[in-house]
Formats: sequence, structure tokens, C-alpha cells
Amino acid sequence: MITFPNSINKQDFLKSYWQKQPLLFRNAMDNAEQLITKQQLFDLSLSDDIESRLLMEEGPDEPWQVFHGPQQAEQLELLNESPNWTLLVQSVNLWHLGCKKLLEDFRFLPEWRLDDIMISFANEKGTVGPHVDHYDVFLLQLSGSRRWKVGKPDAEVELIEPDSDNQQIKAYPTIIDETLQVGDMLYIPPNTAHHGIGIEPGMTLSVGFRSPALSEMMMIFAEQVMLSKKENYYIDPLFSVRTSTTEISSSAMSKAASWFSNLEDYDALVRKSFGILQTQPKQELLLLPIEKTAKEAILSQQAINRDPAARVAWYQVDELTIWLFINGECFERSIEDKQWLEKYSIIDTLTLENTSANIQIDKFLELVQLFIDTGLFGGVDVS
Ligand code: SIN
Ligand code: CO
Repeated sequence: MITFPNSINKQDFLKSYWQKQPLLFRNAMDNAEQLITKQQLFDLSLSDDIESRLLMEEGPDEPWQVFHGPQQAEQLELLNESPNWTLLVQSVNLWHLGCKKLLEDFRFLPEWRLDDIMISFANEKGTVGPHVDHYDVFLLQLSGSRRWKVGKPDAEVELIEPDSDNQQIKAYPTIIDETLQVGDMLYIPPNTAHHGIGIEPGMTLSVGFRSPALSEMMMIFAEQVMLSKKENYYIDPLFSVRTSTTEISSSAMSKAASWFSNLEDYDALVRKSFGILQTQPKQELLLLPIEKTAKEAILSQQAINRDPAARVAWYQVDELTIWLFINGECFERSIEDKQWLEKYSIIDTLTLENTSANIQIDKFLELVQLFIDTGLFGGVDVS
């Protein structure tokens, strides 16, 4: 359970800190060291299915050498002898039940904003270097201790090597310089310089949020325009005989600029694109599809499990309609679904017991069928 500082409740946090200011939470979590062991984290990094990276400041071939996963057991064993390294494992919430459960404490934020839980293990002086992320992150110390130097949000920063892939930044003025002990947590808003340095070897868990780029949104929007078959063609403004045949006049440019927003259903297409974007799964689904119908599966007490990699969100279009977004697809549904969505779309398992009040309702079964058909709920684990 995450505890907020005494003087700040969740509402205050959203108003004054979320996407605005960093915030230190001392003793945010009891028993944080019991969540996951170093060995469990290292074992996850050996898997082909799990994204990981090992960063060695003094790598065998070059400084700041990165080894992408799956990691090699022999190399991990040698790390005890190596200076300044960090092992980072992504999407641990998909593979570790305790980490998945921890996300329930962050449900005061919309689930569709969440990206994943990443856990890093850094040895003494281990660091990924000073940098800026585009996304919000909560850093929770699970073991050992790490010092964090945090800059002012949105302050200008300079890359050390602007012409390379290295995203490390030059020294910056800090507004927070604190060491996180086990159970402490630090919230860092987007575009805020930060730098974590291992003091005592240990793990930091990062709850990271989605920050899609406009270019990603535009790709989906373009696809939606094509699918809508509401294509809109360029039409000239009023013009007189031109002195130049090659110049694009400013009125033609203005006409082009209004082309997007004059598109029939522009607003609807933008909204739909956003829902699709935010529910695109980060990776392949983990559970096998269920072959039975929803009713058969529930009545035969087959396991109907929420796929941890699946994503869901909904939007109320008008008094009668909602759009239900599942795994990057949009389904137009009746407003009736709203009463069931909050409970059933995020529940771990659908059972005869927890659906019995609704199992005779056709609309409810239709919704569960959609959950199954889209892979929001599946059967057993593929792996
Ligand atoms: C880390 O866990 O060391 C890196 C996390 C971050 O800087 O966002
Ligand atoms: Co970062």
C-alpha cells in the first residue's frame, strides 16, 4: 500500500504536483523489500520475452556499454566484480503478481495513462546518468539506497553529446537532492532532469506513464481518415489571375491549413484516434484465446482471466453511446455497458460467482463475449 505524505492527499497531489512538481514521499510503502528479490529480477532478465538492458559505465568494449536482453547468466554472475552497472527490466507488472497488485494503488490515475513497471538494480555508484524523460514516473526504493538529484521541471538542459544516441545531459541546478531509503518514493514530472546514483546496491521500481508523441497520434488519425471513407479533397480559395504560376499564395496555404479541421467528423476522428492510441498494447498478449462462447465458458467454470498485457478504456460519446477501446480497436456500444465496465473490465478473473447477478442479461453476455474476442480476457498462460 502506498501512503501519501500526511499533509498531501491524492486530490492535492493531482492539483499541485502531477505533471508540475517533483514530490518526495518518505516511508511511502511498508515492507517494500518483500515485494521482489534481486534473484527474481535477475531471472526475469534472462527471459527471451522480457525487455531488459544492462548498462555498464565501464563496459568491456566501451564506456556506457549497453547489453540488451535476454541477459546471459554468466555475465550476470560476473557483475559482482564490475564497477558501476545497472540492470533494468521492463514490464515487470506482467510477470510478477506483487508488482501487478501494486498498480492498484495508482488507480487514482487513469489506467490508460499507465505504461508499465520497470525495476532497476544498481550497484554502488551504478547509474544510467543524468537525463530527462518525456513521461511521469514514480520511483520507489525497494532495497538498498539511491541518491536522486532532480532539476526544475521544464528547465533548459544541454545534451553532453548532441550528435550521438547518448541522452545524458550536462550538470544542471537541482531542487531536490535526497537519498531514497527502502520504502521511500519520489515522483518526477515529465521534462524534469534527474540523476539516480546507487549508494547501497539495491532496486528501484519505476511506475511509468504513457507519453505518446503527436506523430504517433497522426499516424492513427491518418488511418482513421482512410477507414472512415470521408476523404476530403483540396478546393481552391477564390483567386485572380496570378503574376506567378509557381508561387503558392497565402490564401491557398490558409485553405490547406484549414483542410484538417474542415474534415467532416474531424472531432470524432481525433477522439477515436486518441482512444485507439492509448489502448495499443505495449507487447503481445500473454493468454491463449478462449474458444467457448462467453456463456459456455462462465457456466463451465473455465478460467476467464484478464490478460495483463491487454488495455482497455471507454469514452461517452453522447447520452446513448460509448466507444469502448480494447487493444487499439474501437467498438461503438450502448450506454448500458457503462454499468458493467468499471467492475468487469479490470477484474482479475470472471467467474460464475462474480457474474451471477448479470449472467441472464444478453447485453452483459455480449460485452463479455467482446472481452473474450478481443483478448482482453483469455484462458491459460501461453508461456
Ligand atoms: C533507474 O531506475 O535507474 C532509472 C529510472 C529513471 O531514471 O527513470
Ligand atoms: Co528517467
